[in-house]
Amino acid sequence: MAETNNLRIVDDAASLFHAAAEDFTNRVEFTLKSSDRFTVALSGGSTPKGLFSLLASSYRERLPWNKIFFFWGDERHVPPDRSESNYRMANEALLSKVPIPASNIFRVRAEDPDANRAAAQYEQTLRDFFHPAAGSFPQFDLILLGMGPDGHCASLFPGSAALQEKSRLVVANWVDKFKTFRITFTVPLINQAKAVEFLVGGADKSAALYEVLEGGGSTDQFPSKMIHPVKGQLMWLVDKAAAASLARKSA
Ligand code: 6PG
Repeated sequence: MAETNNLRIVDDAASLFHAAAEDFTNRVEFTLKSSDRFTVALSGGSTPKGLFSLLASSYRERLPWNKIFFFWGDERHVPPDRSESNYRMANEALLSKVPIPASNIFRVRAEDPDANRAAAQYEQTLRDFFHPAAGSFPQFDLILLGMGPDGHCASLFPGSAALQEKSRLVVANWVDKFKTFRITFTVPLINQAKAVEFLVGGADKSAALYEVLEGGGSTDQFPSKMIHPVKGQLMWLVDKAAAASLARKSA
């Protein structure tokens, strides 16, 4: 199936979370008609928190938690109990509130002082779970992404080394503006997903969203432009504030 780049513009943050929760649930139910599991990589930052809270409340009874397997598309280089941890946010907002087996949760061991070792270990975790054929990439059912005001996604920041990675699944990426490493999925891994969904809200994202979807900026300047699933679906779920600079409206 060729990439279908769908753009859906909703009114506000609450609408964004509800649309994302409904879409997530529909994807799970559809996938489980022909599979015994659903694999999802979560995004970090603050945007997804509203989605996670909804899944843990209004959708708690509807989702077959024992058949959903959670990974992270990126993680900060910190222990899981630190406020910056993407795992901690997801655990507090969602995973600790639903009946999911601990064995369904695969967090990045980002407490390892050696970021490269943490990335290599997470890559091995993916290989051990998905058993991809030699030279191929694991295929997630869904990868959720956010986008920063600079156009980054996961921890693929403008001008960073990870943007050039063509063969690894997970790398430690030095992020100069934060003077720290981040552990992140690579572009080729993300682009192998059956579905990639960006959740983008807020006026501070409007300039970058224009550049990524309609502007002429380079992929190095706006790394989210590099996300084009090879066979999967690409969905942009954005609110009106983030879409303010777009000429194109919902498709
Ligand atoms: C992270 C995220 C990152 C995030 C964007 C948007 O680890 O921070 O994975 O890519 O999705 O920075 O963050 P907000 O949702 O907080 O705007």
